[in-house]
Amino acid sequence: MKKRWWHNSVVYQIYPRSFNDSNNDGIGDIRGIIEKLDYLKELGIDVVWLSPVYKSPNDDNGYDISDYRDIMDEFGSMGDMEELILESKKRGIKILMDLVLNHTSDEHKWFIEAKKSKDNKYRDYYVWRKEPNGLKSTFGGSAFEYHKESGEYYLHLFSKKQPDLNFENKDLRKEIYDMINFWIDKGVGGFRLDVIDLIGKVPDKEIKENGPKLHEYLKEMNKETFGDKDLLTVGETWGATPEIAKLYSSEEEKELSMVFQFEHISLDKIPGKRKWDLKKLDLRDLKRVLSKWQIELKSDGWNSLFWNNHDLPRIVSRWGKDDSEKNRVLSSKMLGTILHGMRGTPYIYQGEEIGMTNIRFKDIEDYDDIEIKNMYKERIALGYSHEDIMESIYAKGRDNARTPMQWDDSLNAGFTKNKPWLKVNENYKTINVKNALEDKDSIFYHYKKLIKLRKENETIIYGDYTPLDLESKNTFSYLRELNGDRILVVSNFYEEETEFNLKGIEYRDLEILISNYKDSSKELKSLKLRPFEAIMFRLK
Ligand code: NOJ
Repeated sequence: MKKRWWHNSVVYQIYPRSFNDSNNDGIGDIRGIIEKLDYLKELGIDVVWLSPVYKSPNDDNGYDISDYRDIMDEFGSMGDMEELILESKKRGIKILMDLVLNHTSDEHKWFIEAKKSKDNKYRDYYVWRKEPNGLKSTFGGSAFEYHKESGEYYLHLFSKKQPDLNFENKDLRKEIYDMINFWIDKGVGGFRLDVIDLIGKVPDKEIKENGPKLHEYLKEMNKETFGDKDLLTVGETWGATPEIAKLYSSEEEKELSMVFQFEHISLDKIPGKRKWDLKKLDLRDLKRVLSKWQIELKSDGWNSLFWNNHDLPRIVSRWGKDDSEKNRVLSSKMLGTILHGMRGTPYIYQGEEIGMTNIRFKDIEDYDDIEIKNMYKERIALGYSHEDIMESIYAKGRDNARTPMQWDDSLNAGFTKNKPWLKVNENYKTINVKNALEDKDSIFYHYKKLIKLRKENETIIYGDYTPLDLESKNTFSYLRELNGDRILVVSNFYEEETEFNLKGIEYRDLEILISNYKDSSKELKSLKLRPFEAIMFRLK
């Protein structure tokens, strides 16, 4: 396998609105990010994925772009953006831009033109039909919206302020490529491609994901833009199987560097239902799915490793335990260890490195997210109780990840001196960066060490992966092997003590590379694992 710089890189995702507010208007901004670059350098990450910072009316917090070549006023100016790229570069950090190509804002000049008449040059940049069909919007309701003036419906797979672009149109594709090249010329390190598996949609056949021309478009995009530039490109692909992931990410295909797959993310919902329809996670499913991806992308293609992002709940509240300080710290470290020991590029979502948790606002009015609000209205109309809906929001709502970053114990967690756009989590007095940096045993330093271990051990990057305990309901363990070097990760996923037995693997000695307890045992024949204990060993 050809070695690439992103194979041993770790990416940190910033949701700019919630990261750091430098001008105290209650909204995070680009200068706020620049102020915190030294913090990111200290953590040891290599790349920052910036959620969208382009001009946007913020119907979906920047995922509705009205100008791809300009910066949202609240976030700053193009000058600030250029400075961010430069200041990051000085610290060895690359910036990944979030490319939202499936749709624009309805306030984008292309859509404003497209609405003017059926023979406008830009009409065909979007998808218009005489009648709606059964296609549904991810944010609820029909995916078609009536446009009275022209008597036709336009497609929006997300909100009605996010009209879908029509990739069949060659001129549109050319404009998109020019725009991507504009950002490449600014010196960015790559791109995250938002819901990229939708661009090949065939609305008349109700095909959304994985349409017939998807890979043709991606190959063309690669050739016209980032293909020969050694940039990191990661596609958001909810519909990917390992087979499909190889089409996107194998070297020969010349499409992307890697994709985000979401199979593991859907394991705690009722199959066939929406994410709001909750089901308890069975650890065996999680191991089966993650191990399948590890093994199937072994020699071809590349994995992204992530537990959370701006659309997902906080991992410590989801699959760890945040009911006490002790459990929160132990389970955050356990989850980090499992993920960072695997093969692929790890992504850390802002605040994960200090174990930030979900929020529980009592009042629906305190939530901001369009998806939450639409779902609430829809389910109230369907007769669900307020309490049931709130439980779904507490478990899966996107605002869990979007509350302001907790920097210290001062007003509003040090995020802003003004009223923050979304309420700060009340636990900021204890859970914050300042505390984490002062405590050598904090989650922060555990993550820092995990990042360092990856850089120092090729076995973690390229080693073969073997799951060891697929049938166990309590432990998650696996072996990584490269040229005779062996690294073993053993963990107890739960609070109850459990036992791990290493069968059939010989070793003379072992070294603990990292553990979330100071005094972890080295007795692998019957290793007693304390609550959430996670250990990475080198077997000799
Ligand atoms: C996926 C993004 O991650 C999400 O935040 C957004 O709402 C949709 N794509 C639509 O752009």
